[in-house]
Amino acid sequence: MSVPAGVAWINGEFVSTAEARVSIFDSGFMGGVSVFDTLACWKGGIFKLRQHLERFERSAHAAAIPLPLRGAALADVVVETTRRAGHRDAYVQVIVTRGLRYTTPPGPQPSTLIVFSIPYIWIGGEAKVDSGLSAIVPSIRNTPVSTLDPKIKNFNRFHQHLAGLEATSAGVDDVVLLDQHGYLTESRGANVFLIQAGSLYTPALGVLQGITRQTVFEIAEEFGLPLHERDLTPYDLYTADEAFLSSTAGGILPLVLVDGRRIGDGVPGPLTRRIHDRYWERHLSGPDVTPVFA
Ligand SMILES: Cc1ncc(COP(=O)(O)O)c(C=O)c1O
Repeated sequence: MSVPAGVAWINGEFVSTAEARVSIFDSGFMGGVSVFDTLACWKGGIFKLRQHLERFERSAHAAAIPLPLRGAALADVVVETTRRAGHRDAYVQVIVTRGLRYTTPPGPQPSTLIVFSIPYIWIGGEAKVDSGLSAIVPSIRNTPVSTLDPKIKNFNRFHQHLAGLEATSAGVDDVVLLDQHGYLTESRGANVFLIQAGSLYTPALGVLQGITRQTVFEIAEEFGLPLHERDLTPYDLYTADEAFLSSTAGGILPLVLVDGRRIGDGVPGPLTRRIHDRYWERHLSGPDVTPVFA
């Protein structure tokens, strides 16, 4: 057994990912009191570093988890961890937990701050970008906003684990979770988009404000495609011309089969492909790219 090769920074120390450790008494492990963000380094540049760290700071603030580092100081650690790991295509994560529990003397402890960089990860595997993903709408619902707003990018993912078991037993790749009222929300690690008659649709509420989702908004504007954030049902998904998931871990991932219904022609659609191509092009240069290995 081996963990992904890379470098981690834990509370100020750089170690290899093989050696990276946190205490069993850490509140992230023991109570799920942790927020995080996932970034991509692509061809040597980190995409939307500032936007990811701002979202991370908002998640930590909403969870009242003090951040030992923020802003430019945190960005420097993210870049240096990625540089030391050496992967030009990397999956980079920043995690903060509320620190140790059950200490002597008792009382609040410093937060645990972790950054790591490992080889890039694709949801469902890289081949699915061409073949498309299959999914179900599982019986498990997404976390209600009234319990835990999905805008906080957090590690309470037990419902996703249970939904994933349903996907496995149905023999499909992924899930599209509903909210308590039966409207589409998002997948386990991705937002969801539909395309109908040349317009893009995505759920407005009860979802993470994905950085990839935001990038799709920008690309839609560039392409002159109308975009609507609104309530959507499984019917809207089944009858869409095209559908795709959006995530830092894989970019634009076509959805071609949901609950046994083919989406459109049952193959990745032309608009999905155009958005995909532009998405990755934007990772190569421009204001959103922070070079790591320069
Ligand atoms: C629940 C959930 N929704 C959506 C996303 C997509 O967000 P982003 O585009 O910022 O990667 C993620 C990413 O991990 C996620 O965990």
